[in-house]
Amino acid sequence: MMSNRQVTDCIDEWKSLEKEYSVLDADFEKYRQQLDDLYVLQERCVKMINHQKKRYQHLLDTFKDGIINGEEKKAVNEIEAQMNKRQNNFKQMEDNLPRDSGALFFFDRKLLTAILGPMSVSLLKKQDRFKYKDEYEKFKFICTIIMFVFSFTNLFLVEFRFSDALYHFVLLWYYCTVTLRETILRHNGSRIKGWWVFHHYISCVLSGVLLIWPDGPVYQLFRNQFMTFSLYLSLVQVLQYYYQRGCLYRLRALGEKGNMDITVEGFQTWMWRGLTFLLPFLFFGHFFQLYNAYTLYTLSYHDDCVEWQVPASALIFLALFFGNFSTTVLVVLQKVRNLNPKKPADKTN
Ligand code: COA
Repeated sequence: MMSNRQVTDCIDEWKSLEKEYSVLDADFEKYRQQLDDLYVLQERCVKMINHQKKRYQHLLDTFKDGIINGEEKKAVNEIEAQMNKRQNNFKQMEDNLPRDSGALFFFDRKLLTAILGPMSVSLLKKQDRFKYKDEYEKFKFICTIIMFVFSFTNLFLVEFRFSDALYHFVLLWYYCTVTLRETILRHNGSRIKGWWVFHHYISCVLSGVLLIWPDGPVYQLFRNQFMTFSLYLSLVQVLQYYYQRGCLYRLRALGEKGNMDITVEGFQTWMWRGLTFLLPFLFFGHFFQLYNAYTLYTLSYHDDCVEWQVPASALIFLALFFGNFSTTVLVVLQKVRNLNPKKPADKTN
């Protein structure tokens, strides 16, 4: 039974809690009000930016069409220079506002709404965008290690169609997840080339095809080659992880005001050293994909071959080879062309 003293203590404590609650209630009301104001402001800023951009375009079109003399030309040049500056300012503003998904590919937009529903995936703070990208790289790394273990086990320790199927299923899940994450990254300003996202869509299809490829002599003829390729791919992805993560951290350091640890030249030197090391492994991987396509093509003429999965996966490997090889070459050529210092803000979104 409670004593009178205990009851009084409890009543005092409740009174103190009541006081705290009224402060909390007032703070929450303030927070809700500010949140409402924030949404209104966000919407207004987005509208104003779009409106300004439209009017800038209109002005530019007028400049193009009109005939102007020397004095007017000076004024027009001045306005155009100011406009360029403003465009950069708009970019910075947009980085802190909810983004319109219109910039994404049709498929990407559909994927986002199909999986997540009509919700916003905009990350408004630079730190949040960096954290998300960093998490994405870590996620890929952990999955790569799992895939390495799987392919090693399947190649050297066990030979069951069930464990192969499990591996193909894990690959299918991985590529679907990575595609979704990359779509969110692209929505938030990442410059991941469209091909790499498309590459993951194709890889989802390939994993699905391999998953349902029935066991048989033709499957067994290709199985070890595929597991060897997977093992090699895991190793390349580990190297790629160190390169991409190094770029991410260095570019973040470059974008930080007052950080004297890294310079643009220092970053370029590091990047080229990393790329020169990585590229031979990547190109070998691409030709391995071409070799897979060739093996599957010859297998499709095998006497025991009745499965449609064989020519289908040959075609997919061929597409992967062409896409990966040409995109990597284009990326490298683009980097050679842009050897002039890269603006830190370009990549540290
Ligand atoms: N997958 C996902 N994202 C990629 C990517 C890839 N293959 N290649 C580049 N990116 C991202 C970068 O992280 C960067 O993102 P950010 O804007 O958020 O910072 C953006 O795309 C732009 O990168 P970019 O400057 O074009 O290239 P990079 O220097 O980061 O990487 C390569 C260049 C060539 C190393 C890289 O594109 C690559 O690894 N390509 C080969 C992939 C491949 O062929 N895999 C199969 C092997 S068999």
